[in-house]
Amino acid sequence: MKLILLWVSTFLYVTALAAQPADGPTLWRDAEVTQFRLPLATWGKAPSLLKEKQYYALPEVNLKTYPVYAPDKEPAGYLDWLRQQDPQPLVDYSKLKTDADWIAAGREIFYGRELPRFTGSEHNLAMIRNPQVLAAYRLNTTAEGVLVGLRYVVREKGKVELGTDTCAMCHVQIRDGKLIEGPANTHTPFGPLMGDLTRRYQQMSPQMLDERRRKHMREDYRVPFLADDPNLKIADLPAEEIAGLYDAHPLGVHGRTNTSLRYPVKISNLIGVADLKYLDHTGTARNRGLTDLARYSGMIGDVTDSLTRYADGPEGKLVLEHMGLGGGVKRSPDAAWFAVARFLTSLKPPANPNTVDDQARRGQQVFARAGCSGCHPAPLYTNNRLTLAQGFTPPPADRTRYNVMPLSVGTDPNLALKTRKGTGYYRVPSLRMIWMDAAFLHDGSIGSLEELFNPDRLKPEFRSSNWHAKTPPRAVEGHRFGLDLPAADRAALIRFLKTL
Ligand code: HEC
Ligand code: HEC
Repeated sequence: MKLILLWVSTFLYVTALAAQPADGPTLWRDAEVTQFRLPLATWGKAPSLLKEKQYYALPEVNLKTYPVYAPDKEPAGYLDWLRQQDPQPLVDYSKLKTDADWIAAGREIFYGRELPRFTGSEHNLAMIRNPQVLAAYRLNTTAEGVLVGLRYVVREKGKVELGTDTCAMCHVQIRDGKLIEGPANTHTPFGPLMGDLTRRYQQMSPQMLDERRRKHMREDYRVPFLADDPNLKIADLPAEEIAGLYDAHPLGVHGRTNTSLRYPVKISNLIGVADLKYLDHTGTARNRGLTDLARYSGMIGDVTDSLTRYADGPEGKLVLEHMGLGGGVKRSPDAAWFAVARFLTSLKPPANPNTVDDQARRGQQVFARAGCSGCHPAPLYTNNRLTLAQGFTPPPADRTRYNVMPLSVGTDPNLALKTRKGTGYYRVPSLRMIWMDAAFLHDGSIGSLEELFNPDRLKPEFRSSNWHAKTPPRAVEGHRFGLDLPAADRAALIRFLKTL
């Protein structure tokens, strides 16, 4: 049975891919795009995405980029060699024939398509060649000294620019020297890194701080449909306060565009993403198959998401210059994002070092007894449903239109209510590969499974192990399941969870 299913889904993928280039555009069809995103709770409407015609009117880009090395590992004469390169295509799509070709192309884009914001910043280039800065920023680095997630860009011969991050910046882990594709980067302290940058900009000049942080933050986070938007006000805080808010982001958490400096989100593990029915912790988009995954990837990778509108009036349009997109937005060929989606769906979980022993087997029984399987049933360990953020009542039609459980687990509601990802929902997450995570719950506010299932986290004096030294104590509310278990059962449950 399993084999047949596997065969059928592979067949579907392959036919989807084979049909794709010949049939012309399939990534952006109006009929599919309008159903893609979920409505936003406070606005009552789904954000308005580009129309098919507008999307395909965007200029196309397919540009090769090159690895960035740690200064002590850079091959001799590397930058000179780069200066002699002509701009070249990242991928030759006409050559993709087999499934393996598509996956390889997807991997190339995952590592090589730089998210083109603030590309060519001289300041960032100087920093990335400074060993002290690099040590502090703890970027994932391969044994060969390649900084994973950054690339050099050659847009014209003789000029080597630093690009911004690629998918691999956030969705790769290095464990015991081995690179694992898909899981969240739990090594690079993205928050403190941004805090440090904020302080550097401030030291340089008020103008630099304004250009590179405040304007950028406003466009990344402002929520046009919110009255009294808290996100707009944050950009006006003194620099040190902004830096402090960044510092507070735990490892494995990111203040992504469309979230908030105050309400950042846990980085997703992309292994097994094809099994999830809703994308993002707040279920911002449906995942009906490869095209949705490809479209989601493209909206991030090309930053075409910056053209999404969040209000009907002029304030609904984001200011591209402020987002480091002054050169305009280009789109990759559809094939690029189908290749990435195919690559993502090919990712396999790494070997789990936590073996199933007697304690884990006992934990499995606790899991069933404590009612966890109602929401986190095997084999995916999620029922793929949406729960309500505290305080949100969905319109009756949406309760059946989407797979909604009409209950709230009571975790922090702000991401789901006060950001551009604010659908009002939190999806039930899959617990597969949870042993690889460093932060738990949608906001990563808990640093270990031991803490998640310890009732002490409900006390006002609680401080999670993954919080910054300056973060004051507070209770982490919600998801009270399993909190009343006897110590031995709790330990067994945690042991079991780590084997998934
Ligand atoms: C700067 C860090 C960062 C970069 C770079 C990044 N992502 Fe992500 N990604 C995240 C975070 C954080 C989330 C969780 C977002 C949420 O839940 O709202 C996420 C979620 C996703 C999801 C949804 C997964 C799920 O569980 O629903 C997909 C798919 C994805 N990213 C693909 C990509 C691709 C493809 C790229 C490159 C084009 C990319 N990401 C670049 C941080 C990043
Ligand atoms: C009523 C549905 C429901 C039940 C029952 C439930 N959970 Fe959850 N679980 C959720 C939701 C929803 C979240 C996400 C909450 C958030 O992100 O704010 C979650 C999150 C988690 C997480 C964190 C996942 C991550 O990626 O950070 C773990 C671990 C977990 N649950 C384990 C359990 C265990 C063990 C039990 C039983 C003791 C249980 N859950 C019972 C709905 C449920």
